[in-house]
Formats: sequence, structure tokens, C-alpha cells
Amino acid sequence: MPSRQPHLCGNERISVRHLCVEYHGVVAVHDASLHLNAGTICALVGMNGAGKSTLFKALMGFVRPSAGTIAVNGLPLDQARRARAVAYVPQTESVDWNFPVNVHEVVMMGRYGAMNLLRIPRPVDREAVKEALDRVELWHLRDRQIGALSGGQRKRAFLARALAQGASVMLLDEPFNGVDIRTEKLMIELFEQFRREGRTLMISTHDLSHVTSFCDQVVLINKTVLAYGETSSVFTSENLALTFGGLRLEASPTATIDPDPRQAP
Ligand SMILES: Nc1ncnc2c1ncn2[C@@H]1O[C@H](COP(=O)(O)OP(=O)(O)O)[C@@H](O)[C@H]1O
Ligand SMILES: [Mg+2]
Repeated sequence: MPSRQPHLCGNERISVRHLCVEYHGVVAVHDASLHLNAGTICALVGMNGAGKSTLFKALMGFVRPSAGTIAVNGLPLDQARRARAVAYVPQTESVDWNFPVNVHEVVMMGRYGAMNLLRIPRPVDREAVKEALDRVELWHLRDRQIGALSGGQRKRAFLARALAQGASVMLLDEPFNGVDIRTEKLMIELFEQFRREGRTLMISTHDLSHVTSFCDQVVLINKTVLAYGETSSVFTSENLALTFGGLRLEASPTATIDPDPRQAP
């Protein structure tokens, strides 16, 4: 049962109501609802196949809902996307790293929506890309092919793309997978800066310690939103058991879950 959170009018960044998404008639997300305000870091937690990436793809407009509505910054999704309000940092596995582009070009893609059809970067676009690459500490690697970066550097390149876009909502799909501890620390510092800037972040993660250490809110998902709201009230052992199919997990600050306990030996 979703726990409702208070939200201020005009402060709402993400509003998902009764969302359903199907792939070829098979339900991936069913009747999911949630609301997130500006300046929030929200964890998205659920087993493999629970619909985390599908929810992100619906929020990006990459998959068409079979029912329900999505609004971002109070606008219908297509308008919010035209305003470049939402950025997506995909799961590492879903990216073709052989694509022949360098880091600077990847980050410049975040500016495409702001450019004219010829996509000739203006000084303002170059400045936004430089600033974004500086913030993620990748300026020195700007000419390197994206496929020649480490896992953590690739994540940072996509974060820089989201920053260059100027997105107020950032969706990060398992951003900590395959990154070293230094990059993880840098990313968490960046996420906390983004929150201070009033951005709203949704972060899917299998590392439950992240939820309690820096996420204000949590969404627990298993096809539908089982519970969401303030981490302190929603992130309970009972709700985790519900989320992970009866598996008892302590909501301890050090726990890491097996994302698919059904496949455990
Ligand atoms: N492109 C697709 N075509 C068909 N089924 C899909 C597709 N993408 C995901 N699914 C299915 O939808 C469900 C949710 O998947 P997904 O959103 O990727 O879950 P998660 O990110 O939580 O692991 C799974 O059963 C998955 O197999
Ligand atoms: Mg996924």
C-alpha cells in the first residue's frame, strides 16, 4: 500500500498515476503510482525483472504506457521532454560501447535538444559541456573514445551528458554497478550537490546501504509500487520482505541484496 507523502503544489517534479506498461501483452508494470518533489534523491529498489528499467523508460517516453499518466514538472511527458527536463543514465549493459564517439561528443549530445537542426555547437553549448566534464572530473579524457573508458568513467560521462542537458529530473539505472569505490564516492557527492540544486534523482540500486545513507525517499517495486515515501518510514524489514518475495532482509545500513533471490542456489 503506497504511503502518501505530502507534496507542495508547484514543487512536484515527477507524478506517475496508475501506470501500466506491457511488452507484447506481457505486463511489466501494473498500476504504479508515485509522486516526487524537487530536491529529492529517491532510491528505486526491487528484484531483477521487477520493472525498474521499464519505469525509467516510461518516464523517458521510450516505452508507451498501456494505461496511466506521467507528468514531469507539472507538464505532460511529451512537453517535459521537449523542454529537456528529464535525463536518463542507462544501465551499462544496455549501451553499445563500440559506437565510435568520444567523451566530448557524448556529453555534447545532451545539448542536441537546445541546438538547431544542423547541430553546430555554439559557445554556450561548449561552455555547458566543459562545465559538465569538469564537474565529473573527465575533462582530461574528453578526446577518448567512450568504449575505451573504464566502467566508472563511462558512468561519469553519462552523468555529464545529463548535466549538460540541464535536466531537472535525472533517472539513474544501477549507476554503481561496475564502478570503483572512488568513483562511487564522487558520484554520491555529485548526487548530493544535484539535490542541493533542486534536482530530483531516481536511482535504482541493489545496494541497500545506499538507501539509508543518502536517499531521502524510496520506492519499493515488484511490477507495481508496493510502498514509497520517506526512507525512515518505508524502508522496513517487512516492506523489504514484501518486495523480495518473502525473503527476510534486515533494513540494515550495510546490507546488499542478491537482486534475484529466486535464482540463488
Ligand atoms: N524489451 C522488452 N521486451 C519484452 N519484455 C521485456 C523487455 N524489457 C523488459 N522486459 C520484461 O519486463 C519485465 C521488467 O523488466 P525490467 O524493467 O528490465 O526490470 P528490472 O530493471 O527491474 O530488472 C521483465 O519481466 C522483463 O523480462
Ligand atoms: Mg533494469
